Amino acid sequence: MSRIVVFGAGGRAGRRVVAEAARRGHEVTAVVRTPDRHPDLAGEWARNPGRHPEPAGEQVREPGRHPEPDGGQVRESSWRPEPGVERVRVTGRYPDVDGGRVRVVAGDVTDAGSVAEAAAGHDVAVQVAARLDVPARDFFPAAARALVDGLAGAGVSRLVALGIGSLLEVAPGVRLVDTPGFPADARTFSLGHAAELEVFEGSALDWVVIAPPPVILDAESPGTGRYRVGGNRVPAEGGAAFSYADVARAIVDEAERPAHHRVQVAVFT
Ligand SMILES: NC(=O)c1ccc[n+]([C@@H]2O[C@H](COP(=O)([O-])OP(=O)(O)OC[C@H]3O[C@@H](n4cnc5c(N)ncnc54)[C@H](OP(=O)(O)O)[C@@H]3O)[C@@H](O)[C@H]2O)c1
Repeated sequence: MSRIVVFGAGGRAGRRVVAEAARRGHEVTAVVRTPDRHPDLAGEWARNPGRHPEPAGEQVREPGRHPEPDGGQVRESSWRPEPGVERVRVTGRYPDVDGGRVRVVAGDVTDAGSVAEAAAGHDVAVQVAARLDVPARDFFPAAARALVDGLAGAGVSRLVALGIGSLLEVAPGVRLVDTPGFPADARTFSLGHAAELEVFEGSALDWVVIAPPPVILDAESPGTGRYRVGGNRVPAEGGAAFSYADVARAIVDEAERPAHHRVQVAVFT
């Protein structure tokens, strides 16, 4: 059992991370800006994720189309482990637990003092907070800096963050975000995540950034419980549906069994 602090716990990814971690029996501290807006997070949501309405808000926009990576590196029918690409992880069943393992607290991921206060006494932190109403180039690096400083102050060395698929590569050294025709507004948002990565790279944190495929994630699906993880490439079937639920499984897997360190790593179907 681990003590996991989740920043952005009230969002689409965050709620699923909280539920997944609680189902596995971890002690979860769910950090939200306004606890009153998330009365179900510690109870009903953790018991029955998906049976409750989504939080209000606009889905983060992602381009649905992208070029195939050269060589079709990873395909379902012919997939073999390649350097940097690991075997399928299957998430097992976990006994139901009641909501007592989830504690909801107010906090701000862009404030190092708030991060330190929320993270004190935890084994690992998860960052899934995002804002669409402030420029991504401001929000994501500010959150990253506050996490680097705040987690150091709290003595928490491990961070699992959710990134963006557009920063994966379509060819060696070529990120999807840098390809011709990539939508300008999505590029601006993606570069905010890129600035966040630079902050992590310059820190002493033991971080990993989970990058889902560059598609709009399915918020309805309960997921499959199966996903692949590894490498830094847009997957060949990168346009295939992927769910928040499976992203949450990948995040909690990295939180409880750290397998990637100081890298951005792709997760995909
Ligand atoms: N295909 C892809 O690559 C892909 C797809 C989707 C998402 N993503 C990434 O995944 C991340 C999460 O996305 P999402 O869809 O879960 O977002 P979301 O539903 O909008 O949730 C974001 C949450 O962050 C919280 N938040 C905002 N500012 C905060 C702060 N200062 N301190 C603490 N919490 C704060 C918000 O809380 P309030 O309730 O207080 O507003 C909200 O609940 C984003 O970084 C996004 O770019 C990637």
